[in-house]
Amino acid sequence: KNEINIGLLGFGVVGSGVAKILNDHRIDLQHKLGVPVSIKKVLIKDKSKKRDTILDPEVFTTSLDEILNDPTIDLIVEVMGGITEGKEAIELSLNAGKGVVTANKDVMAESGHDLLRLADENKCDLFYEASVGGGIPLIRTMEDGLASDRITALTGIINGTTNFILTKMKYEKMSYEDALAEATELGFAEADPSSDVDGIDAARKMVILASLAFSMEVKLDDVFVRGMKDIKDGDLELAAGLGYTVKMVGSAEMDEGGIAVSVEPVLFPDSHPLATVNNEYNAVYIYGDAVGETMFYGPGAGSLPTATSITADVIAACRNLLLGVNGKRLHASQHERKLKEDCD
Ligand code: HSE
Repeated sequence: KNEINIGLLGFGVVGSGVAKILNDHRIDLQHKLGVPVSIKKVLIKDKSKKRDTILDPEVFTTSLDEILNDPTIDLIVEVMGGITEGKEAIELSLNAGKGVVTANKDVMAESGHDLLRLADENKCDLFYEASVGGGIPLIRTMEDGLASDRITALTGIINGTTNFILTKMKYEKMSYEDALAEATELGFAEADPSSDVDGIDAARKMVILASLAFSMEVKLDDVFVRGMKDIKDGDLELAAGLGYTVKMVGSAEMDEGGIAVSVEPVLFPDSHPLATVNNEYNAVYIYGDAVGETMFYGPGAGSLPTATSITADVIAACRNLLLGVNGKRLHASQHERKLKEDCD
């Protein structure tokens, strides 16, 4: 292969960020991979919409088939969102033999296990680093960085929008409505922001993280969820007066009795590191049997941070394609089988 071509599905806040990084960092990326990486086609809904982009207008199309039937397209980047549409696009891409990078936490939380199996069947990669924690590499940390450890618990702020709202309400006395409007304007909130404020977005991210942490199929129904609406007028001031800060927190814990996963508002003393994580930033503690306590911090939402994670997945997928090892994942079960065979 002397080049890698991408089909980008969606050109909103995140999709345009991916195009910007691939363009602004193209020399570095080519240097790292040895071949150029370009966006060959972009799937959009409305061709007449004005777009401020350096991409050639010719790349825009309203036909997914055109992208999937293009043999020169090696990899699909799905950033169009939507549970039904997003899932279908990922399935069609994998069934067309194309690797997929997605930021779609809704789909990965609800159907991630099935889609990963489909990717295996089609010998394709399916990467989803951007689905949790925006620019913080949490998935890779779980899969690689802490792979040797047994994770016992994780807890932290994993929704940028609610953290932004809570920060603005506490420090700028902004109303909930104005803070939410600003989070939407800045591209942090979901298309339907009730999933942010009701804790569903964070619950989906917890499903993804807990599944990886504990190597099991955690479901959305397993998560206890209490949203921001349970924070009443005056609660933030009352807490502040006592030296406490309210944060929306996701937690997952494993003990002999099983796992407990939750999302809810939590009070922290102002001196606690999580109390100092402000605006759209996220921070997650991961506890390992051997490593002890680790903490990961960074921008949890927004165009370029999210696009950074997506582009990191693109690089990983490109490397695999170039090495000819795309779609070759070693599963825990396969691994156990191999170990057993070695012992026999
Ligand atoms: N709406 C999400 C958030 C976007 O605010 O965290 C990033 O996943």
